[in-house]
Amino acid sequence: MTDKFKKFDMDYFSLKDKVAIVTGANKGLGMAYAVAYARAGADLYIPHLTDDIDEIKKLIEAEGRKVSFIQGDLRDKEYIEDVVRGCIKEYGKIDILVNNAGISLFEKFTEYPDEAWEKVIDVDLNTVYYLSHRVARKMIEQESGKIINIGSALSFTADKNCPPYPTAKHAIIGLTRVFANELGAYNIQTNAIAPGFLKTDVNKELWEDPEFYNKITDQIPAGRWGKLEDLMGTAVFLASRASDYINGWTINIDGGFTTTI
Ligand SMILES: NC(=O)c1ccc[n+]([C@@H]2O[C@H](COP(=O)([O-])OP(=O)(O)OC[C@H]3O[C@@H](n4cnc5c(N)ncnc54)[C@H](O)[C@@H]3O)[C@@H](O)[C@H]2O)c1
Repeated sequence: MTDKFKKFDMDYFSLKDKVAIVTGANKGLGMAYAVAYARAGADLYIPHLTDDIDEIKKLIEAEGRKVSFIQGDLRDKEYIEDVVRGCIKEYGKIDILVNNAGISLFEKFTEYPDEAWEKVIDVDLNTVYYLSHRVARKMIEQESGKIINIGSALSFTADKNCPPYPTAKHAIIGLTRVFANELGAYNIQTNAIAPGFLKTDVNKELWEDPEFYNKITDQIPAGRWGKLEDLMGTAVFLASRASDYINGWTINIDGGFTTTI
């Protein structure tokens, strides 16, 4: 009997010699995506805002992969151009882009400052559009690429006292579909990951409040907050050949949180 499935093997999940840009991968969840990619065989190009790059550098190099850094604020369009040019100069290509960098700023809704609204929308939505748009030009030339946007459980729900965050994260789902439609014909897939609740700097004010922490834990069918390793397999899958026919979708990694009433 001939094996009509012989084309498929575990290499479908390999990222051997791919090049990945992961924004803000010097800390938090971004670090987990970057380490997963290095472990799957990719080299990394990391745009970062703050100085703390020692840990991620050591982690990537321990996997035997290369990593380069470029420091700046993604709200600066010149810097965005530098990120794209810098990665191409370093590695000659961009196979994977993960739009991970993000912020939230909490204030009482009625007193929410316009500046905070503008800043969160800028970082969490506008920079994702501008960077993806510029990276897409290179991916079109290559006729291949994977764009992975980072949404949130708050892409599907809303909470209190940070109005721009769920607004931007809902828009990330729309943006993902727009890019899927615009770029699908060039063999570029755009998908999103929507993490649930993991303890990082972005939501420190929430998990440090035991009442909130316990309320959320009770709402998660898995009965616990997420761990970094919960995200890593999906990040590799969406960056790999195994997901080539998935385009415009979002995978929720939230222990079932967004399925509950
Ligand atoms: N932690 C969670 O539970 C959770 C849940 C859902 C979604 N997310 C999303 O995951 C992503 C990563 O968040 P995290 O939890 O790791 O937070 P984090 O604060 O640990 O990391 C955020 C990263 O973004 C960078 N960044 C912020 N503003 C920037 C700017 N203007 N220019 C360049 N870089 C900038 C930070 O320097 C940092 O490296 C965010 O998009 C966040 O919304 C987090």
